[in-house]
Amino acid sequence: MVLETQRLILREMIQADFPVLCKILQDDDVMYAYEGVFTNDEVQGWLDRQFERYKEHGFGLWAVVLKETGIMIGQCGLTMQDYKSKKVMEVGYLFQKEYWHRGYASEAAIACKEYAFDKLNVKEVYSIIRDTNIPSQKVAIRNGMTCIDKFIKHYRGVDMPHFLFSVNKIL
Ligand SMILES: CC(C)(COP(=O)(O)OP(=O)(O)OC[C@H]1O[C@@H](n2cnc3c(N)ncnc32)[C@H](O)[C@@H]1OP(=O)(O)O)[C@@H](O)C(=O)NCCC(=O)NCCS
Repeated sequence: MVLETQRLILREMIQADFPVLCKILQDDDVMYAYEGVFTNDEVQGWLDRQFERYKEHGFGLWAVVLKETGIMIGQCGLTMQDYKSKKVMEVGYLFQKEYWHRGYASEAAIACKEYAFDKLNVKEVYSIIRDTNIPSQKVAIRNGMTCIDKFIKHYRGVDMPHFLFSVNKIL
């Protein structure tokens, strides 16, 4: 286990999480901000990328497990992302649709931010969010973030306007 909140456990993903990951990354509604659903190979690539991140950095997107049931309901964690010419630490989150609107994403995102500040000693964390993705922007705001920039991100062959949200550690 990496992190614990009131209702959730965050832990590293394992290969056995592949079917749940498919449920998330192959759902049209979850993936609209990513220009469509992933193939099985793309899901495996996504999972492998997290394994590499755990090894390289000690963090990545983690599985979010509901304490009450032990079910993996989503992913949330920290990744290094490109912003202009630098790398920034992003708090990212994607949840199964049936677990939206219960505050789980915000609870997990706040815990990840605190982990970055307290355990990794990072001074500022970011969330990079497509301009049309209002639910994700609301999570960022609940995570104490404000929008500090707008830029174009090239992803899956499409130019997408994105907002850069950020929050600083209070020293
Ligand atoms: C982004 C995403 C995780 C947000 O999910 P969400 O369910 O809106 O966010 P939360 O889990 O924090 O839930 C917050 C909502 O639950 C409500 N809520 C209900 N019960 C609650 C409780 N006990 N505690 C807190 N909030 C509660 C809040 O009022 C809030 O509603 P609102 O947004 O209408 O104001 C989800 O839309 C998603 O997975 N999207 C697809 C992937 C994606 O786009 N990821 C981000 C890429 S940048």
